[in-house]
Amino acid sequence: MLIINGFSKFPRSEKLNWLKEHANLSLQTMEILDSHLHGDEAVQEIYGDLSENTISNHYLPLGLAPNFLINGDLLTLPMVIEESSVVAAASHAAKFWAMHGGFQTSVLGTTKVGQVHFTWSGDPETLQNVFKQNMELLLKSVSPLTGRMEKRGGGIESMQIHPTHRQLPGHYHLFVRFKTADAMGANFINSVLESLASQLSQMVENNVSEGRVEIMMAILSNYTPESLVQCYVEAKTDVFRNMSPDLSADQFARKFQQAVDIATHDPYRAVTHNKGIFNGMDALVLATGNDFRAVEACGHAYASRNGSYSSLSRIDLSDGSFRFTLEVPLAVGTVGGLTGVHPMARASLEILGNPSAELLMQITAAAGLANNFSAIRSLITTGIQQGHMKMHLGNMLRQLKASKEETSLATQYFAKRTLSYSDLSSYLESIRTQNQRE
Ligand code: MEV
Repeated sequence: MLIINGFSKFPRSEKLNWLKEHANLSLQTMEILDSHLHGDEAVQEIYGDLSENTISNHYLPLGLAPNFLINGDLLTLPMVIEESSVVAAASHAAKFWAMHGGFQTSVLGTTKVGQVHFTWSGDPETLQNVFKQNMELLLKSVSPLTGRMEKRGGGIESMQIHPTHRQLPGHYHLFVRFKTADAMGANFINSVLESLASQLSQMVENNVSEGRVEIMMAILSNYTPESLVQCYVEAKTDVFRNMSPDLSADQFARKFQQAVDIATHDPYRAVTHNKGIFNGMDALVLATGNDFRAVEACGHAYASRNGSYSSLSRIDLSDGSFRFTLEVPLAVGTVGGLTGVHPMARASLEILGNPSAELLMQITAAAGLANNFSAIRSLITTGIQQGHMKMHLGNMLRQLKASKEETSLATQYFAKRTLSYSDLSSYLESIRTQNQRE
């Protein structure tokens, strides 16, 4: 295999030629890559510059989930997701809960975290003393970086030095808590941390002769348990009277509770349960140009905070009252990063009425709880395949290039049959053969 050098410097046409040769691409695929470029060159430049070595765009649909009543305000949520049924599920739950009080949300905290990891060969107490004596100077040294953020209500909240782990003797980290106002704050935090790192080693060098600091790394932590949002829906259980022909309202509520209990105690179920929550949350996070990997990593770590992986949502069922709550850490922003650059992220934020970061946290949590509610509702009543398959049918029919007439015939045929790709393909083949004969 030949290693390619200087690939990033190649113009797009050369990258494509190289790709064509090495991946043996068909003409049709080359045309698809071309046809997915944006028609407006200036806009394409924005998309192309978001990452590296770009040769085309990869589309995902932007859907709308209306009827989200959140703290009394009715919102339409922009959702970007490739999976069918998620937007429909969010919309169904939103409409149901809009008629029963809506989503109640609150932000429990917005603190972000960063760390400077380093080793120290001297006495631990000396390190702590030098740090405490020089903390003000350290803070002052980064004021050129924190000044603007402080004007927006953010900045450094606290700094401490902690030993990292008993298994890592001599390893310490500076643990810095930040407020980042309406920004997610990754760039701000990392810049401040890198500056703190060099100041820290100089500070120790200037004050102590016995012992040496070696900086390992300076980086934000995507674990932000103090940037936390809570969202719940609450109603008398009789609102569930029409949920299923086979279950009374109370039976539905009890079965729902059992489903959440299972996800609380069984990690195999909890992962899927939480995945359903992230279906809704990620769709909002993606739509608004936020970092869904950070949000996911943090949420799953939080789901394990008590020692074993568990459900992010919980249920309280007592005296005929049903309260379903999601508590999840979230680090999202509505200014800076991609939110100001990506035209579709800007459009999504506008659809939401240009919310603050705190409001976006609450909206995102509501989307998560809505999808979680719909998933459990389907699972404990009809099962999820019924709804899913209806959506899949459309996707499969498009893949099999079904005509309008074939689509309508297949929809009727599979309305009461179990759907599979091979059965659908054979069915289409049979009607196509029959048409040819006629
Ligand atoms: C599918 O994307 C999500 C579900 O599996 C979630 C769940 O099982 O709770 C339906």
